[in-house]
Amino acid sequence: MNANAGKSGAGSPSFGVRIAGAGSCVPEKRLTNHDLEKMVDTSDEWIVQRTGVRERRICDPEKGESNRVLCTRAIEAALRDARMDATELDLLIVATCTGESTVPSVACRVSDNIGAVNAGAFDLVAACSGFVYALNVAHDLIRAGSHRAVGVVGCDVMSSILDYSDRALCILFGDAAGAAVLRISDNPEQGILSRFLHADGAGWHDLYLPRRPVDFPDGADQEKLKLNCLQMNGRQIYKFAVARFGDLIQETLDKAGLTADQVDHYVCHQSNARILESARERFGIPSEKLYVNIDKFGNSSAGSAPLCFAQLREMGRVKDGQVVMFVAFGAGLTWASSLWQL
Ligand code: UT7
Repeated sequence: MNANAGKSGAGSPSFGVRIAGAGSCVPEKRLTNHDLEKMVDTSDEWIVQRTGVRERRICDPEKGESNRVLCTRAIEAALRDARMDATELDLLIVATCTGESTVPSVACRVSDNIGAVNAGAFDLVAACSGFVYALNVAHDLIRAGSHRAVGVVGCDVMSSILDYSDRALCILFGDAAGAAVLRISDNPEQGILSRFLHADGAGWHDLYLPRRPVDFPDGADQEKLKLNCLQMNGRQIYKFAVARFGDLIQETLDKAGLTADQVDHYVCHQSNARILESARERFGIPSEKLYVNIDKFGNSSAGSAPLCFAQLREMGRVKDGQVVMFVAFGAGLTWASSLWQL
């Protein structure tokens, strides 16, 4: 049996799943490339050429900004968009790897903040792929008939795990949250057409967060590396991303029996503008179908794809009836897709 199978086949339910609302939240503070030029040996030109980032948003803990707060505001915005009350949610999933606590989960704290008193709540950790993983899980719970309305939040506060003296990493990442509310629909055509959840744990040491000395890979120079700061083999992740990104799009299209031009929007993890461009070129995707906001928000890990989706929806560019593909990849290593008939 293929665990990544789509929705078609005998026994398909007579109802569908729709994305009823979306929302996002980013911190107020902008950290520009020119600000970073004063902090590390880098230049605006290098950062723009290599990553496409011009500025990113960074939480200010003194102003009360945190992972929990971004998540709360994003799901509140998504509920407003869906014209729903938090009490109507029967599950809340928060995809994050930068929560302020693991016990309790961020999701439990957020559900308390919004008054989702009828909802179960849990966190899901799949790094940058987290939101797309969670979207698939939420969809399938509704399709299975056990849930009717699920809130899905993707959020990362990358500034809390970065070393701002490490120029290779601090230039890339930012903080953001995005959310979607999924509901049961009486139109059985609405929902996921195909999707994949992938992982390759053998590549864990290319992107990891060491909390204790034993968390470093064998042979690592512990004198140079810092605990509690993200470690990334950028070149290796870059190669992985370029190869997997394209293959993932292709297998997701194939599974649904669609061609690249039949997709209205590609909502992609904003890893690096060059990685996005490589996928655009491989499939001949016109730029208006692959939204890029990395210039303004950097790479916000699990926050990036839902932030893009919420912004597209707010601009009126994504609508019911369209076909949208979510794609993400990141630490784990993980990579995932979710192709929707909205
Ligand atoms: O979100 C999912 C996970 N993450 C990603 O998808 C990120 C994937 N990787 C990347 O996006 C890229 O690898 C980076 C943007 C992180 C780095 O770009 P790169 O083109 O791979 O640079 P590099 O690490 O190969 O470094 C090239 C040179 C090096 O100098 P030498 O050894 O050639 O003299 C670096 O020391 O650039 C130097 N360098 C910098 N120079 C100016 C590295 N960082 C900087 C910097 N400013 N900030």
